[in-house]
Amino acid sequence: MALQFTINGVSQFIETISPTVTLLDYLREHISLKGTKEGCAEGDCGACTVIIAERTKRDTKYRAINSCLLLLPQVDGKHLLTVEGLGCKFENRRAILEPIQKSMVDGDGTQCGFCTPGIIMSLYAFYNSSKIQTDKNIHDALAGNLCRCTGYRSIVDAARQERVFTEKKVISENLSTVAEYSHEGQRFFKPKTLKEISKIYSTYPSSTLLAGGTDLGLSFSKDRQVTQTIIFTGDVKELGIIEETNKALTIGSAVTYSEILPYLDKLFPSFANLVTRIGSDQIRNVGTICGNIATASPIGDTLPCLIALNSQLKICSNNGERKVDIEDFFISYRKTNLKKGEFIKSVSIPKLNATQKFRAYKVSKRYDQDISAVIGAFLIEFNQERVAKTIIAFGGMDSTPRRALHSEKQLTGETWTEENINKVSEKISEEFKPISDLRASSTYRSQVAGNLFKRFYFDLVDSNKPNQVVDL
Ligand SMILES: Cc1cc2nc3c(=O)[nH]c(=O)nc-3n(C[C@H](O)[C@H](O)[C@H](O)COP(=O)(O)OP(=O)(O)OC[C@H]3O[C@@H](n4cnc5c(N)ncnc54)[C@H](O)[C@@H]3O)c2cc1C
Ligand code: FES
Ligand code: FES
Repeated sequence: MALQFTINGVSQFIETISPTVTLLDYLREHISLKGTKEGCAEGDCGACTVIIAERTKRDTKYRAINSCLLLLPQVDGKHLLTVEGLGCKFENRRAILEPIQKSMVDGDGTQCGFCTPGIIMSLYAFYNSSKIQTDKNIHDALAGNLCRCTGYRSIVDAARQERVFTEKKVISENLSTVAEYSHEGQRFFKPKTLKEISKIYSTYPSSTLLAGGTDLGLSFSKDRQVTQTIIFTGDVKELGIIEETNKALTIGSAVTYSEILPYLDKLFPSFANLVTRIGSDQIRNVGTICGNIATASPIGDTLPCLIALNSQLKICSNNGERKVDIEDFFISYRKTNLKKGEFIKSVSIPKLNATQKFRAYKVSKRYDQDISAVIGAFLIEFNQERVAKTIIAFGGMDSTPRRALHSEKQLTGETWTEENINKVSEKISEEFKPISDLRASSTYRSQVAGNLFKRFYFDLVDSNKPNQVVDL
């Protein structure tokens, strides 16, 4: 069956192209829409930014995404907007520009020809969003357009101009989606229910599961891998569910960072703050927490947070479901305890009670869009002045994210004083043997780990003076 989607309102039917061709390659090489550029091909530079338009109950939402990381079957049934779809009307030989394009032109806000189209798309999506036009939100919206080598200040000035959003009518009708797309032996499954995905995965247990593709996408865009069988989780209804009860927040494995952020912000603001530093809007609009968990990366940002928060995974297969404490999920470097045919259904995070406090910290060379050197996530439960229980979890300190069990034990029953915290902080690094790599040296990581725990203490004793390096 053919894939079907629209670009700037024009229908596209795909029957004879490999399912591992990226949207960016399709735009540039197959239909010659060369306004969308290829810079890095790994989700960093933003030159390839396009927009997915989706109807909600009230209006149409425009989400910026990196076309270099998205495979064609992922946009099946979707409506896309590229830079060619903006400001393309001419009157009296003058281009009629979108308000954001005009602000950029009037204010000399421009980077090079590679970067500028992507910046326009990011700002167009920002103008459509409900985010207030603060400087922080403008910088956030531009964080996924990495280069700052020419006119960044004038671009920010352009984005500060009065917000006028003119909707591009790119959605004409609801499109159907395929259940499977095949091409020359490659198969791309798009199951719609839990039952379907469980069955397909048990039939093809060696196939590759794909959620947002912000991790896997690089194997297609950079390594040009021709994967034989892919199962996409993004259309499975049960995996897209977010459930909040009195006790816990449960996040389906196909829920994106952008979708879950308002919930995290309400329940675990420090976790939410860390998530806003994962990649960029383009990455968070498609990437998922469960994809992050499944990579089992020692520097996956959400993993130490989920460990400190006592989270539990629901694992699913054709044979039923089982629960696993997230801590027991990571076996060794990038190895999980998933068996053949099993996949993550959801992650549940227990809500904090009144005696518990949680904070998470990310240390990286750059504030936005950077991989962590160290992540520290800490939970503490008080019994009046004393520590009833604490969980100290780190990423970037070992081959898997893990707890500092000895330090936790040392603090239990002690008073929450600077003296006691200093004693523990100075010894924390003895529980780890971090590596030196291009992100940080082993010595730096060890020192940072202890210092982050001290920071946790100072944040809690005087929460009016948060120890932030930037004004949030
Ligand atoms: C530019 C850029 C910046 C990034 N910045 C950060 C960052 O700051 N911090 C960070 O931690 N990460 C970062 N990442 C990595 C990536 O965005 C995250 O790991 C993301 O959470 C992956 O989610 P996904 O849905 O895109 O997963 P995918 O790429 O679709 O999949 C990742 C892995 O999970 C498996 N998988 C997916 N769903 C399931 C499931 N339900 N059950 C079992 N296995 C499954 C896949 O088979 C694959 O092995 C960045 C990536 C890019 C490209
Ligand atoms: S080409 Fe750089 S983000 Fe896609
Ligand atoms: S690479 Fe485009 S402005 Fe720097």
